[in-house]
Amino acid sequence: MQQDFFQYQAQTTPHPLAMEISHAEGSYIYDIHNNKYLDFVAGVSACSLGHKHPRVVEAIKAQLDKYLHVMVYGEYIQESALKLSKLLAQHLPKNLSTTYLTNSGTEAIDGAIKLAKRVTGRGEIIAAHHAYHGSTIGALSIMGFEERKRAFRPLMPDVRFIGFNNLEDIQQITSKTAGVVLETIQGGAGFIEPQNDYLNKVQAQCNKVGALLILDEIQPGIGRTGKLFGFEHFNCIPDVVVTGKGLGGGMPIGAFTASKEHMMQLSSEPKLGHITTFGGHPVIAAAALATLQEITETNLIEQTLEKEQLIKKHLVHPLISEIRGRGLMLAAITSSADITNQMVLKCQDKGLILFWLLYEPKAIRITPPLTISNDEIIEGCNIMTSVLDEIFNSSS
Ligand SMILES: Cc1ncc(COP(=O)(O)O)c(C=O)c1O
Repeated sequence: MQQDFFQYQAQTTPHPLAMEISHAEGSYIYDIHNNKYLDFVAGVSACSLGHKHPRVVEAIKAQLDKYLHVMVYGEYIQESALKLSKLLAQHLPKNLSTTYLTNSGTEAIDGAIKLAKRVTGRGEIIAAHHAYHGSTIGALSIMGFEERKRAFRPLMPDVRFIGFNNLEDIQQITSKTAGVVLETIQGGAGFIEPQNDYLNKVQAQCNKVGALLILDEIQPGIGRTGKLFGFEHFNCIPDVVVTGKGLGGGMPIGAFTASKEHMMQLSSEPKLGHITTFGGHPVIAAAALATLQEITETNLIEQTLEKEQLIKKHLVHPLISEIRGRGLMLAAITSSADITNQMVLKCQDKGLILFWLLYEPKAIRITPPLTISNDEIIEGCNIMTSVLDEIFNSSS
């Protein structure tokens, strides 16, 4: 398969990990050579319930027996998409009542940008330096990392960048601003949390000038940080919340949620203001509904905070300067990009899957399934510390 992979599948980097997958279950992925890997990455924060969770698989199978795609988004009443949207509303603050389901996170971000423009009648979008919101042209335009987007210019005009956590920059949000898009906890930047009531201060300025605050919860959302939504840690309620990744329980999804009043504006003047053929697909929505039910009906979210403490207790090493993030959205910061690279590759050889963050080369991503057991966490941390010892001893 290796040769065909490089020949027929478009690549995203010159050196993909190219592990040949056989199957996956629970917290483990198996390759075709019968090697077993403990998954500390969860498909980059996507497999919130681990691999092939029985409740998700059952929901998918039940939906497969009923119907697959029958109509474009928004025309017919399809039970799984409806129940998912309703359940999201039941768990969100009152103003976030109405959801548009998409096929991916980046599409949901583009939808939210369009919504802010339509609701305010303004053009300017503000985002943060080092932000990542996806890879379509809209989301790419608000990426806060010039090096990764320069080659694709011209992008969406009227985008302005502010420093995340920079209180002075908040004044750049003005009556020209349609929307401010921020990750609740910056992911690619290195799992940077808002400080000093930052989100509330941004929200106050948005309220003052009539702009919408759009919080990207695609990575922190759906229980990963120890609350169902990351913004609950910071007492901030946005005008639009964008979710994805972990909501799908291993299936592709995105969603943006706002008030009914705001959301209605996408259906008139012009009508069909945002359309998708497959968004809200019945099988995907069934998987997401089962995922959200499982996460909200069990004590997985509370356990996430205990698991954070367990990781912090077992991952102590002179080569790790800091563990950033919350819950099971953690990044171990090593003393150099080289150590991080060695860790990802050597740990994989020893049966532990780790990964990088987009823009912080010293960070090792630790975002396991929320369902990972305490024993599995200790097993993974032990592999990490033994590899760190090897690196430490070989350099001294
Ligand atoms: C914070 C954030 N926003 C948006 C996206 C884009 O989501 P997707 O890859 O599903 O399009 C990602 C994906 O990594 C993300 O982490």
